[in-house]
Amino acid sequence: MHVTAVLSLKGGVGKTTVVLGLAGSALKAGLRTLVIDLDPQGNATTALEPEPTETTIAQAMERPSAAILASSIAQSSWGEEVDVLVGSEDIERHNHPDPTSQRLGRLAQLLSALPRDDDAVSATGLAKYDLVLIDCPPSLGLLTGAALVAVDRAVLVTEPTIFAVSGVQRAFEAVQAEREHNPDLQPLGVLINRYRTRSAEHEFRVGELRELFGPLVLNALLPDRTAVQQAQGAGVPIQRWDTPGAREISGQFDALLGRIVRARTTRAHRPRARQAPEA
Ligand SMILES: Nc1ncnc2c1ncn2[C@@H]1O[C@H](COP(=O)(O)OP(=O)(O)OP(=O)(O)O)[C@@H](O)[C@H]1O
Ligand SMILES: [Mg+2]
Repeated sequence: MHVTAVLSLKGGVGKTTVVLGLAGSALKAGLRTLVIDLDPQGNATTALEPEPTETTIAQAMERPSAAILASSIAQSSWGEEVDVLVGSEDIERHNHPDPTSQRLGRLAQLLSALPRDDDAVSATGLAKYDLVLIDCPPSLGLLTGAALVAVDRAVLVTEPTIFAVSGVQRAFEAVQAEREHNPDLQPLGVLINRYRTRSAEHEFRVGELRELFGPLVLNALLPDRTAVQQAQGAGVPIQRWDTPGAREISGQFDALLGRIVRARTTRAHRPRARQAPEA
């Protein structure tokens, strides 16, 4: 199971878009995928339109167990291969900035309840996922911290603008700091989104990012294409939106998914040492 968080300090740079793009590529590739909506705004949930659930991520983080996880997951409107751990604005109460909180290990604990074999599937009623994608809120608070405890890979999304570049620096530092506690965590790369080829400013910022982060900056730049908004508005994966812009972006998500799937997964999921005992 590949577990990847998509994060940025700055809002609106394309985290949810990247999660949806990867989920669409995974659907095309026949991978069973769980999208975890860790953002109180609930945009991934809105886009994927799951059936109503009895509980949400807020209760699941409160009392992590296979039973609550099962009652918080629903099939998305994209089909039975893409499920959603449903978001809720109530998750905001977990997002306080205290990094020593016992809540930091909760998401890792939850993920450890996901089945690895068929016996666990029948015992829990949960599916066995090939891929788990976590859509983080636009902050480096406890929720993003909890994601970094729980994942193997982190994709840092940025736009090629001055404020976004300083935001990616801080997000990268957060990933590096978490690696002390979670040695399996690797930054998959810095993904530059909404790139416009004729913008000198964008070109300058891309150069700046490459100087700062070297090979960590992914070569493929995601262009700004209205197809992204059109597909999201229609509630379908970009891979099903048949325009040149959509095909261009879809190809890039396929390549990014390839990187995630090829990356070595070093461990079976388990709660981390950092996870504090229950109060
Ligand atoms: N490559 C792109 N081309 C065109 N529009 C895009 C692209 N990427 C994102 N957008 C649009 O930009 C807006 C913000 O994107 P998105 O919601 O993915 O960002 P976010 O980082 O998840 O935001 P937030 O921090 O609020 O969660 C959305 O309307 C989305 O459709
Ligand atoms: Mg978002």
